[in-house]
Amino acid sequence: MEATSATLLKHRNWSLLVLSSFLFCFFLMLYIDNNRRPNLSALGGLWIAPITVMSEALATGTDITSTTTISKAIVATNSSNTSSTATSEATEKMEIVQTREKCDIYNGRWVYDQKAHPMYETSRCPFLSNQVTCRKNGRPDHDYERWRWEAMNCEIPRFNGTDMLERLRGKRVIIVGDSLNRNMWESLACILYSSVPSGRAEVDASNGDYKIFKAKDFDCSVEFYWNPFLVQLDKHERILSLDKLHVSARRWKGAKIMVFNTGHWWTHGGKTRVWDFMQHGGKMMDDLPLERAFQIAMKTWADWIDRNVDPAETTVFFRSISPEHKGKQWCYNQTHPMKGESYKDSFPRSIVEIAEKTIRDMKAPVKYLNITKLSQYRIDAHSTIYTTKAGKLLTEKQRRQPELYADCSHWCLPGLPDTWNALMYASFILEGSSDVS
Ligand SMILES: *[C@@H]1O[C@H](CO)[C@@H](O)[C@H](O)[C@H]1NC(C)=O
Ligand SMILES: *[C@@H]1O[C@H](CO)[C@@H](O)[C@H](O)[C@H]1NC(C)=O
Ligand SMILES: *[C@@H]1O[C@H](CO)[C@@H](O)[C@H](O)[C@H]1NC(C)=O
Ligand SMILES: *[C@@H]1O[C@H](CO)[C@@H](O)[C@H](O)[C@H]1NC(C)=O
Ligand SMILES: *[C@@H]1O[C@H](CO)[C@@H](O)[C@H](O)[C@H]1NC(C)=O
Repeated sequence: MEATSATLLKHRNWSLLVLSSFLFCFFLMLYIDNNRRPNLSALGGLWIAPITVMSEALATGTDITSTTTISKAIVATNSSNTSSTATSEATEKMEIVQTREKCDIYNGRWVYDQKAHPMYETSRCPFLSNQVTCRKNGRPDHDYERWRWEAMNCEIPRFNGTDMLERLRGKRVIIVGDSLNRNMWESLACILYSSVPSGRAEVDASNGDYKIFKAKDFDCSVEFYWNPFLVQLDKHERILSLDKLHVSARRWKGAKIMVFNTGHWWTHGGKTRVWDFMQHGGKMMDDLPLERAFQIAMKTWADWIDRNVDPAETTVFFRSISPEHKGKQWCYNQTHPMKGESYKDSFPRSIVEIAEKTIRDMKAPVKYLNITKLSQYRIDAHSTIYTTKAGKLLTEKQRRQPELYADCSHWCLPGLPDTWNALMYASFILEGSSDVS
């Protein structure tokens, strides 16, 4: 008897030892994997942006969503075979994940995918402006076209152009704002253009202030209105009217999807500032603080939306600030996204907060296309010297002076704005995922 129980005891100790060594090895493996990850990118593997999130996931390893993150991350490590596996898994998992939690499609990481193809080819999209066709303009590196955005805790529905056109059937889409929203329009127009048979689309992109794409078989159109303040600017008198929307607002009415942005032009100083006076309530002012002026203008826009838009009929998006890469974080010669959280934001936080608060306080629900953070990583995605100046391609001589001519605001196409549009599509599908909370 004694002998047996002693053996049993030994046996149990032995099992415990095996179990604990196994657990130890398992966590060690995860730990090593986590710490090694940044180096993998050098081998053409994948790089997971916010490393800290991985560590958090490990610390709370039992949490269901964290576990998902870990397994997904490990699955994704083999970049040569991700797209097929990841997407089929995506469709399977989508429903489960969705019911478990709201999908934050803006919280995630960029995954390098050697096999990834851009959503369209420049040669198939004849109306793309020279300002953004980096590859055609001679940009030698193309890896910037091969990064895919993945959400941290859920699967982003895969973009499907035909499905998007079905959803837009009989509808008007308007994109209103500055040249970064024009960048977004060019991307969307190309994506949809390449989803319809040739000859079944009409495009007028000749004018910088107004552009239109029409898909004949779907009776839908996507328009762009250049209107960087949303409110009215009198260019000759140099008066910015804070309480009057741009005259084109009459033509916004009736659109079923509206995408707005503003912000960059408000912060322009010195020679790039386009107004001398601001007008509000019949008074002319030249000393209104920027924040106050921006707040009044945003309210003018918000009131118009609340009065003129039926939320049951129309989806309104407001796109967040598109980050620049200047100064110490210069975009010139960059061929790889920024790692971790190293981006130092230079855009005034106060302006962002006013926009977000205005949207929160509106009657109509406005979806916040929260692309700032994910775009901050993409120091590699700007058009840099493969662009135009005053409508003309940069000359060789100008290209040799990148400090004067590199564009670190706008983005190459195909490129980053395609992801903005894919996320807009995703948020149609994941209803309610992008409200400002
Ligand atoms: C990745 O997948 C490819 C194709 O399935 C395979 O040949 C390769 O060995 C894998 N690499 C690693 C590191 O697992
Ligand atoms: C990728 O993975 C899938 C599923 O595991 C497998 O069937 C397929 O053969 C792999 N593809 C390549 C190119 O290795
Ligand atoms: C926008 O997304 C970032 C990254 O996920 C997040 O930190 C931030 O809180 C979001 N902003 C809003 C207003 O939802
Ligand atoms: C895209 O959407 C269309 C229309 O809804 C559908 O017929 C097609 O199968 C989808 N394609 C893919 C690859 O999911
Ligand atoms: C940019 O890259 C080119 C080619 O690799 C190199 O010759 C040049 O020195 C780089 N310039 C800067 C400012 O890094």
